[in-house]
Amino acid sequence: MTDPVDQTAKAHVIPAVVASDADASVAKAPDLVVVHDLTKVFDISPPLLNRVIEGQGRVELKAVDGVSFSIPKGQTFSLVGESGCGKSTVARLLVGLYAPSAGRIVFDQTDMAAPRSRSEDKALRARMQMIFQDPYASLNPRWRVRDIIAEPILAFGLVESDGLEDRVGALLTQVGLSPADGEKFPHEFSGGQRQRISIARALAGEPEFLVCDEPTSALDVSVQAQILNLMKDLQKRFGLTFLFISHNLAVVDHISDTIGVMYLGRLCEVASRDAMFQRPRHPYTRLLLDTIPDLDMTGRERSPVAGEVPNPINPPTGCAFHPRCPFADDRCKQERPELKPDPVDGAQIACHAFEEGRLPSSNGDQTT
Ligand SMILES: Nc1ncnc2c1ncn2[C@@H]1O[C@H](COP(=O)(O)OP(=O)(O)OP(=O)(O)O)[C@@H](O)[C@H]1O
Ligand code: SF4
Ligand SMILES: [Mg+2]
Repeated sequence: MTDPVDQTAKAHVIPAVVASDADASVAKAPDLVVVHDLTKVFDISPPLLNRVIEGQGRVELKAVDGVSFSIPKGQTFSLVGESGCGKSTVARLLVGLYAPSAGRIVFDQTDMAAPRSRSEDKALRARMQMIFQDPYASLNPRWRVRDIIAEPILAFGLVESDGLEDRVGALLTQVGLSPADGEKFPHEFSGGQRQRISIARALAGEPEFLVCDEPTSALDVSVQAQILNLMKDLQKRFGLTFLFISHNLAVVDHISDTIGVMYLGRLCEVASRDAMFQRPRHPYTRLLLDTIPDLDMTGRERSPVAGEVPNPINPPTGCAFHPRCPFADDRCKQERPELKPDPVDGAQIACHAFEEGRLPSSNGDQTT
């Protein structure tokens, strides 16, 4: 007899063709993750009583607005952009901590919004894990490290109880700690070691997809490099797929296959790592590169990006970047640019000036 749960899952399998409009430039391996027109609107209205007394309407904030990208298996897609542009909201949508307001997330050809049994949902969610910026806040301070790491193993029933100790020890070893460290509490470790524990815990559920939200931002520069190297090693060893989030282009440079630059909830450029650094096209990408020159991770403070990020509750008309853009014209103020592929390499750019060929190239020539 056919399993009804299995049938439900199959009915919602999405054909791989969905990926084709997300990123044609780099998708060589099959896509593990496809995000299509993802949107998240937060209702930030004051309480009903205030609204009635003060005659106010509802207030909405579009944190993520029509974002599409795909991540081939075993690769890293990075999201960069200034604070408040919606990076963490995308991360939380992907792992199911928020429900999308619109759009679709497809994981291994399965629509995440499709109805499925609780056990099947648990199994699907186990295949993706999240690593946060602050390892101390994400580790229970009252638990020994061995129990913190064992929790997902037990929750997903991944090993028999007599194999638990060995499995926890192996995970600690994989992240550069020792099995004996399992007896300690999180406060007995440095920041970098705590992030290693977070990684071990994330790996304990045997995920295929890791969503890493600024995992090294709270660490010293030398420790950042060690954690990034560890993550790259683990990726290679286990064939992991990463969504990596950082405001720091230096960090993204070291780990990415493809980079998406976000501005006020939207992607404004998506390109391979090499293209993004060697041939940045969107004026905002260029601004980020110009003002964050610390590509060698020297520890130098980044310069602030000139101009203010507009209020997402009341975003500018047309291109949201136009109040800060030296190339803005009337069209930019009225018409929102959509991501369009550059025929040269398939990178995607949302910019009227680029499309019109009136943007100087990154080496100073005019684009064609
Ligand atoms: N739960 C929430 N309720 C209401 N607004 C939210 C919520 N979470 C995020 N926002 C708003 O959505 C926008 C995007 O926030 P998000 O945290 O995704 O940005 P970010 O790019 O991760 O920023 P940062 O670099 O500071 O972490 C911001 O304007 C933020 O204030
Ligand atoms: S669309 Fe216009 S305002 Fe927006 S980045 Fe391009 S040139 Fe600047
Ligand atoms: Mg964030």
